[in-house]
Amino acid sequence: MALTIAVHSYRGGTGKSTTTSNIAVLLTVMGRRVATIDLDLTSPGLHVIYNVSQQMLRYTLNDYLFGKCDLSDIVLDLTDHLGLPRGKLYFIGASMRPEDIARLMQEGYNETVFRELAESLAKGFDVEYVIFDTHPGLTEDTLMAVLSSDISLVIMRLDRQDITGTYLLSQVLRKFGKVCYVILNMVPPNMAKAPELAEELSRTLGMPVIGVLPFYDEVLAHRSKGVFALYHPRHPYTMRISQLVKTLNSWK
Ligand SMILES: Nc1ncnc2c1ncn2[C@@H]1O[C@H](COP(=O)(O)OP(=O)(O)O)[C@@H](O)[C@H]1O
Ligand SMILES: [Mg+2]
Repeated sequence: MALTIAVHSYRGGTGKSTTTSNIAVLLTVMGRRVATIDLDLTSPGLHVIYNVSQQMLRYTLNDYLFGKCDLSDIVLDLTDHLGLPRGKLYFIGASMRPEDIARLMQEGYNETVFRELAESLAKGFDVEYVIFDTHPGLTEDTLMAVLSSDISLVIMRLDRQDITGTYLLSQVLRKFGKVCYVILNMVPPNMAKAPELAEELSRTLGMPVIGVLPFYDEVLAHRSKGVFALYHPRHPYTMRISQLVKTLNSWK
């Protein structure tokens, strides 16, 4: 069975897609077989980080959810495209066509679909990790993805709006018995050094903080032009993600 992870946040722009893509790539560096799925169906973006054009995506997750194609039609193998020396990285993209997005929002979809998707990826593609990059907040589709995943990684900033919102999120997810972990992102560099930061926040939120990622000018300046870790393998950001990946690897 694959370990399914929902990368989630209460507020937008916390770094979900950036974190997802870097975690995925560094898992492949450890020889792992990973699938990442753009579940931010109303504002997809993971394909941009992976430099995947809409032409490369013959079919999208939307087509699959509409029953227009098979799973094998929507799974894109990015291992060579990204020049990964080990492991496997698969990607399932979402449609950028306004009519597809509108239709999905109107019709919705079946809640077992994400679990079935993860199971089929494990069976058909030997995938060990399935990572859903979701839409922020407590919308129905995201909640479905979170609930059908084994664990949820909640990405947040140190902003008080994020802290209040993430607390609410944790209370809701607790009602469903979900296992959630927090990754603090874009932490002001002078605060990221404080050893007690993760511990204090874990206590406030009632969820363990498993990673602290400072704000780096270089990550922002990279502007989603590819997966950062592949361009800057020795950057402290990459090192921090590597640390996180070791934790995830130990859970599998
Ligand atoms: N640790 C970081 N330091 C600096 N910029 C970051 C960091 N993490 C993410 N970013 C930037 O923040 C922006 C939003 O990130 P993104 O991953 O698209 O967020 P989300 O998927 O949650 O909407 C991007 O421009 C990204 O490069
Ligand atoms: Mg995103």
